[in-house]
Amino acid sequence: MKIKVLRQRDPGSEPFWQEFLYEEETENQTIAGMIDELNYKDDLKDSSGNPAPRILWECSCLQGMCGACAMVINGVPALACDTFLKDLKGDTITLEPLRKFPTIVDLVVDRSIIQENLMKVNAYIEEYEGADNSEYEHMYMTGRCLKCGLCLEVCPNYRAGENFYGAAFANDCYLIEARSNTQGKEISEAYKEHFARGCSKALSCMDVCPVKIPTLSSIAKMNRG
Ligand code: SF4
Ligand code: FES
Repeated sequence: MKIKVLRQRDPGSEPFWQEFLYEEETENQTIAGMIDELNYKDDLKDSSGNPAPRILWECSCLQGMCGACAMVINGVPALACDTFLKDLKGDTITLEPLRKFPTIVDLVVDRSIIQENLMKVNAYIEEYEGADNSEYEHMYMTGRCLKCGLCLEVCPNYRAGENFYGAAFANDCYLIEARSNTQGKEISEAYKEHFARGCSKALSCMDVCPVKIPTLSSIAKMNRG
């Protein structure tokens, strides 16, 4: 199996493709495990036999719970630890960093803008207040957001630094409005300004979300208010 990795050795340098051969067992292997196995080799070489530095990437939980390993796999944004080789078509796999965020090195990107946007509009719960029981299930589902950025990567309307903050933001707005009577008005204005006016309802965010957050329901609930 050929593995093509879009590499960048530091933020200012030119990205380049490097190809590796992976000849181990693929049946139960994930992209994360495959990168690890390549990296275990003290003398990692590319497919032409040239020495190559280890492939740098980000991970933590290795069980689909933290979002750190988000990258573009065969052109599709996904979690490396939750993507199995056997589910990918063809004998060549391409790995690229998320393209909507600045690359730090290889497959590691800077996603701090997700938190920065939330902080800009005070999108955090100041004080928990009683919530409607009928909302609990949706609140639980929504609260599982990993802030992985896959929804922003695939969104046709999201560009870093622009006014539209994307699906993860919309879901947090819903959670805050459902949980706080005092912050409701402020968060509703922020939602209109930074989500509702820019969303074209492509809803591709829901297709790639690794924890299947019901963003459409969050949007419907917010648009009611
Ligand atoms: S909504 Fe889904 S895809 Fe978007 S950041 Fe949260 S977990 Fe990731
Ligand atoms: S390493 Fe945590 S989601 Fe992949």
